[in-house]
Amino acid sequence: MKLIHVVGARPNFVKVAPVHRAIAKRTAFEQTIVHTGQHYDRNMSAVFFEELGLAEPDRNLGVGSGSHARQTAAVMVAFEQVVQETEPDLVLVYGDINSTVAAALVCAKLGVPVAHVEAGLRSRDRSMPEELNRLVTDQLADLLLTPSPDADENLLAEGIPAERIRRVGNVMIDTLVRLLPRALKGEVLQRLHLEGSEYAVLTMHRPGNVDDETTLARLLEALAEIGRDVPVVFPVHPRTRQRLVDLGVSVDDNAIRMIEPLGYLEFLALQSQARLVLTDSGGIQEETSYLGVPCLTIRPNTERPITVEMGTNRLVGRDPQRVLDAARDVLSGAACWDHRPVGGIPLWDGRAGERIAELLLAMYA
Ligand code: UD1
Repeated sequence: MKLIHVVGARPNFVKVAPVHRAIAKRTAFEQTIVHTGQHYDRNMSAVFFEELGLAEPDRNLGVGSGSHARQTAAVMVAFEQVVQETEPDLVLVYGDINSTVAAALVCAKLGVPVAHVEAGLRSRDRSMPEELNRLVTDQLADLLLTPSPDADENLLAEGIPAERIRRVGNVMIDTLVRLLPRALKGEVLQRLHLEGSEYAVLTMHRPGNVDDETTLARLLEALAEIGRDVPVVFPVHPRTRQRLVDLGVSVDDNAIRMIEPLGYLEFLALQSQARLVLTDSGGIQEETSYLGVPCLTIRPNTERPITVEMGTNRLVGRDPQRVLDAARDVLSGAACWDHRPVGGIPLWDGRAGERIAELLLAMYA
């Protein structure tokens, strides 16, 4: 039984690792990893493979950056050839990036079964490229592996037959559970001179936040205000770095400490000890929920509502004053954050990869 995992960008690597490990224990499968090359910088890609103990990709399609159409099309052209050459029995795609939808479309047209890991998440915001990728991928996939009940409900409401949907839990949390002890042994806090002090962590790369000069500048001003109360550490995504240059937006570097993107282990250690995380990432909303770290999501919506209902996440939109007020509430202790359920969010337990492997064995082997 031949199985291909398709991955392309940073969050995909974190998700594929536990599934690949669990499947490797079962001899019924021969698995390969195809990296589309959507992310190619060493600290956005290779570092993750090393730290996650993930096998080198068997193929790298080298598509690189480009407009959405170009990038999606480049993955389709290159991946079609891989599928025709290798004739897999099943292809696994992850998350919501351009590589995900491109691979799913190739497989659907060639009649190769597709399983989508992290299916069913919806922000209901079609201005986000990821939402379009999720909608299309879920319509095309044969097996929808979901992390939470809201995802099942979304899929059923879109007319996906119940027999295609399986709730397996959150694979990103599998990786966190496995690697948190190792991450905590690292020295990132010493390296950044943060040991023993309160600090906030910031990540921001969504087009809605970083592509418009006024929005980006005003957000960074508010974030610099926070930085005058506690150090704000900002590992800068290459897309954001590029926008800062293109738009000529300056950052008060006395208040915001801009650093290069961190590897998985250092970023996990940094966020796990933070007083506050400010982000527009999806995965970080989940990780902070698991870790019990207050998270302010700089977006008007989330495809991960369970992190707001059961975790430690608050949506604050992109109004700078609201971001600032919410951050001050956290830092002053005015807001009570730890309302996590005893035992955590169901199926966010470190065993989602194992459940996927068992399911695939029962269904396909
Ligand atoms: C992609 C995903 C997003 C995910 C994010 C994680 C889509 C639509 N978006 O966004 O869902 O949250 O990855 O990081 O698929 N760049 C580099 N080096 C790299 C990668 C990118 O310099 O290794 C720069 C390039 O200028 C590129 C830009 O970042 O044009 C955007 O990269 P791209 O992969 O297209 O989208 P992301 O914004 O990273």
